[in-house]
Amino acid sequence: MLKPKVYMTRKIDEKYLEAYQDQLEIRMWEKEEEAVPRETLFKEIEDVDALFAVLSDTIDEELLSKAPKLKVVANMAVGYDNIDLEACKRHNVTVTNTPDVLSETTADLGFSLMMATARRIVEANEWVKEDKWKSWAPFFFAGTDIYGKTIGIVGMGRIGEAIAKRATGFDMNIQYHNRSRKKDAEERLNAKYVSFDELLETSDFVVTVVPYTKETEALFNKAAFQKMKSSAIFINISRGKVVDEDALLDALKTGEIQAAGLDVFREEPIGADHPLVGMQNTVCLPHIGSASVETRAKMVQLCMDNIQAVVNGKEAITAVL
Ligand code: NAP
Ligand code: GLV
Repeated sequence: MLKPKVYMTRKIDEKYLEAYQDQLEIRMWEKEEEAVPRETLFKEIEDVDALFAVLSDTIDEELLSKAPKLKVVANMAVGYDNIDLEACKRHNVTVTNTPDVLSETTADLGFSLMMATARRIVEANEWVKEDKWKSWAPFFFAGTDIYGKTIGIVGMGRIGEAIAKRATGFDMNIQYHNRSRKKDAEERLNAKYVSFDELLETSDFVVTVVPYTKETEALFNKAAFQKMKSSAIFINISRGKVVDEDALLDALKTGEIQAAGLDVFREEPIGADHPLVGMQNTVCLPHIGSASVETRAKMVQLCMDNIQAVVNGKEAITAVL
C-alpha cells in the first residue's frame, strides 16, 4: 500500500522520525539552518499529503495552490501567524500547532531574559572574556533586583501563566493584561488584572507573550514606551511585530525605559548591524524561546502525531483549524 507523503521544510535528525517511517513516506529539505527555497518547496509539495512547516515558512494561497493533495500543515510552533488560515480553510487543509509542550521552556527563556537584562549578565560576561576585570568595585555592574518587584504580563495564556508561576518564587507582585479576565489564574497565582495602560505605568518588568494578530501589531509603540517607568525593563518573547522597533530604540536611547530583552524581531533573522543589537542596554537572542532539546523533540513528535492522525482520517490532536 502507498504510504502518505510528508515533506519537512527543515532537516531533522532521523532519530526523531523513526517511529513514523513505516507508516509515512518522509522527505525533507537537506539543510537544518537554511530555509528551503520557495521554488524548490513548490516542486516538493506537488504530491504530498502533509507539510511539516516551521515558523519562518509562509503558508499562503500561492503555496496551497501548488499542493492539490495537501491535507494538513503541521507548524512546529505554537504561534501560527505565518499561516493564512482563510486560505487553508478554502483548500480544506487542517492546520496544527504545538501548544503546551513548549510553555515551560519558553517561560524559562523569558525569565532568563529578565535576569540577564536586570543583572547585566551578558555585559559582565563580555567584560571578563575581554580581559577587562582588574579589580572589584562597590557599584561594579550593579543592576536591578528582580525579587519583590512588579511584573506585568501582557498575554496571560499558557506561557504567561508559566512565567507568573516563576515570578511567585521571586516574591514578585504579579499583574497581567488580556482581552479577557482569567479569574482562576488570578486566584492560583495571586495575579491582579489591570488595564494595558495601568500595567505599563506600574510594572518594573513588562513581559509580552501575546500572539501576533492585526490587533497586536505594534501594540508596543511610542505611546506605550512613554507610559512605562524610566526604570522599566521590557521583555519580548512573543513576536517582533508586536513592537514598533523604532519607538523601542528611541525609548532605550533616551532613557524612557532602562533595558530590553528580546528573543524576537520584526524581520528575522537580524544581523549584528541591527540598531537594537548595537545598544548596550539590550540582550538580543535568535528566537530560541522553546529551544531545549527535550522540548524541540516533543514539538517534532506532536507535529508528526498530528500529521499521522489527519492522513489517517482522524481528528488532529492540536488543530488550530
Ligand atoms: P495562548 O495560551 O493562546 O496565550 C495568549 C494570550 O494572549 C491569551 O491569554 C490571550 O488572552 C492574550 N491575548 C491575545 N490577544 C490579545 C490582545 N489583543 N491583547 C491582550 N492580550 C491578548 O498562547 P501561548 O501558548 O501562551 O503563546 C503565546 C505566543 O507566544 C504565541 O502565539 C507565540 O507568538 C509566542 N511564542 C514565542 C516563542 C519564542 O520562541 N519566543 C515560543 C512560544 C510562543 P485573550 O484572548 O483573553 O486576550
Ligand atoms: C515560537 O515562536 C512558537 O510560536 O512556538
